[in-house]
Parts: sequence; C-alpha cells; structure tokens
Amino acid sequence: MGAMYHTATKTLGILTGGGDCPGLNAAIRGVCRAAYDRYGMTILGIANGYRGLIEGDVRFLKPEDFSGILTRGGTILGTSREKPFKPGSLEDHDFSFRSEDKVQAIKEHYQQFNLDCLVVLGGNGTTTTGYRLSQEGLNVIGLPKTIDNDMVGTDRTFGFHSALSIGTEAIDRLHSTAQSHNRVMVIELMGHKAGWLALYAGLAGGGDVILIPEIPYDIKAIGRHLLKRAQSGKTFSIVVVAEGALSIEEEDMEKKDRKKYREKTVKTSIAYRVAQEIELETGMETRATVLGYVQRGGIPSASDRVLATTLGTAAAELLAQGDYGKMVALQGAEIRPVDLWVPAGKVKSVPPDYYMLDSAVAVGTCLGR
Ligand code: F6P
Repeated sequence: MGAMYHTATKTLGILTGGGDCPGLNAAIRGVCRAAYDRYGMTILGIANGYRGLIEGDVRFLKPEDFSGILTRGGTILGTSREKPFKPGSLEDHDFSFRSEDKVQAIKEHYQQFNLDCLVVLGGNGTTTTGYRLSQEGLNVIGLPKTIDNDMVGTDRTFGFHSALSIGTEAIDRLHSTAQSHNRVMVIELMGHKAGWLALYAGLAGGGDVILIPEIPYDIKAIGRHLLKRAQSGKTFSIVVVAEGALSIEEEDMEKKDRKKYREKTVKTSIAYRVAQEIELETGMETRATVLGYVQRGGIPSASDRVLATTLGTAAAELLAQGDYGKMVALQGAEIRPVDLWVPAGKVKSVPPDYYMLDSAVAVGTCLGR
C-alpha cells in the first residue's frame, strides 16, 4: 500500500447486488487494487448486496482478500435481490420490514462506517437503488454488470460476454443431437425482458429461428419456416428463445389478461410452450432445453475480465476525484462516467432497427414473423 496521490475518498464500501455473473470478482479486484494500492483507501466489503448495508454486515478488505480472484466465478461478497425502497424482505418473505426503516438503516450504517462513497456493482435494480440513495444524500458510484446486457448508458455490461459464450456452446452441442434425431430443438436462454443474449447467441450459433421479446412471434410464421427448411432437405432445426419472448396474441393483451394466459400456457418455461406449439403446427418431433443458471456460473471470459477490470480501475479514479453519482460505462472504445440517472429505472431493449436483426434475416434466420 502507498497513498501516492491525493484522494477525495478515504473509505469506500463495496457491494454486489442482484443476480450474480462472471466478472464480478474481476471488477471487485479492479476497484480494490487501484483504490488500495494507488490511493491507500480503506475498503469495507458489504455482504449480500444492500441487505448487508441494512444489517451492518461488513468487513475490512485487505489485499489478500482481493488477490487471486480475477478468474473466479460468482462474487466473494455474496449478493441478494434486496430492494431497500420496497417494503418487506424479498428473500425471507417477511413483509413486516418497512422500506423507510431499511433506507434509514442504510444511511445510519453509511455514517457509522465513515463511508465517503458506496460502490455498487449491479444491474438495473441495483443501479436504480444506487441512484435513489444518491438522491438521499449518499455518494454512490455504479459499475454495470448483468448477463442480460440490458442497461442504458453503456454499450456492454460485464457478464454478458461469458453468458454468450456458454449459450453459444450449448447451441453448438444441440446441433449434433438435433441432426442425429432429425428433430427440432428449442433452447431457452436468459435475458430477463430483453433479447440481447438470445439474439447474439442465436446468431453466433446459427439458430434457424430466434425469438426475442422485442419481436412478438407468430407461430404460423415459425411453422412455415421450419416446414420450408424440411422440404429443402434440412432434417433438423434449432430454435433459440429468449426467456422473455412472447407471442403476437400476448402482445395485444392487457397485462392482467396476459398474466392469466401465461399461467395457463407457460407451465414452467417458455421453451416448453414454444416446443409444443411447434409440434402442433408442424407435426415435427420437438424437444426443449432450458439452459438456466449455467449461463451465470463459472469463470469469466477474457473479454469480461478486461471489461470488469477496466471499469473497476476507472471507478477507483472517480473515487479519488470525488466524482460521485456516476456509473462507469463502456462507450465505443472508451470507459466514461455517465450520470446515475441515465440507467436508473430503465431497460435497454434491442432496437427495431438493430443491425444484427437484418443480418440474421440475411443468413436465413426466422425472427418469428
Ligand atoms: O438478471 C440476470 C438474470 O439471470 C436474468 O436473466 C433472469 O431473468 C434472472 O436473473 C433470474 O433471477 P433469479 O436469480 O432471481 O432467479
């Protein structure tokens, strides 16, 4: 350690919130190494996202804590989906907690631990909470993580590239078994309400059909496409479905009607419903695979390690300058700070004119229309 330069932040608290993803530890290491080695900051690791800050569950992080974690999956800090501005504890299903009390507890612990800034590594929920805490007077800096890649203000979130590689490999592996059995294989990928992961993995894996929430699908169009492939001698097909995909029938429904319809038609996961619809529409033997949490586990890709590390060290620079209320973001070839209100409360969807959509169609992929 050696405090070589002046720093506005003496003590920082760091937490990871929401679903975990590969690259979180690489980002923690990036923030902490630069903050500790270059600026001599004191670092408090907060356990399990905002829950740890509500409960005061913190520990000092020393170099040995953030050494050797660059390639490790998950998060050394633990995480939770605690949303302090919502009443109740989501994780424990205990709805007696009042949000005012939770926010108050966060503010008190922030003071008690002498924090100059809170560094939050998270997706839309965590970053929105970070923004709201900054409005309450806390200094906050955010880093964009999620396998969903659905955050406004950054070109990419860390975690996405690793999940994309896993999804692509899964599609590659389905190809051989689909071919052997002359089947249609439906594979469901995560992504929450956005289609980034399914679109990228679908294009990378050569999906014959890609269904994303941004383009509600028409089962008749999918059926026509699959039958045409079969008639042209292609004995199998791969259908990549985003977990948030929806049909044209659902698109026209009111939210509450859609919910009821979903309860009836989507028993476990959308992949099973789509597989059943395809069988009914085409008579082709169809199987479903739901990749699930495999997409979030394990080591980060090289690209995510680089992104997480550079975002982490850029966050340390903001800490040193006292440039709070920002999220570090990748924009083009640069890491830049953006105001926290930019991503707060928003979801970045695949735009209708996104260049990859036309490319997918040009290589013969059906997008469900
Ligand atoms: O945001 C990441 C993500 O994996 C989404 O893709 C998915 O919808 C959600 O988290 C699953 O959440 P949970 O971990 O709470 O089951």
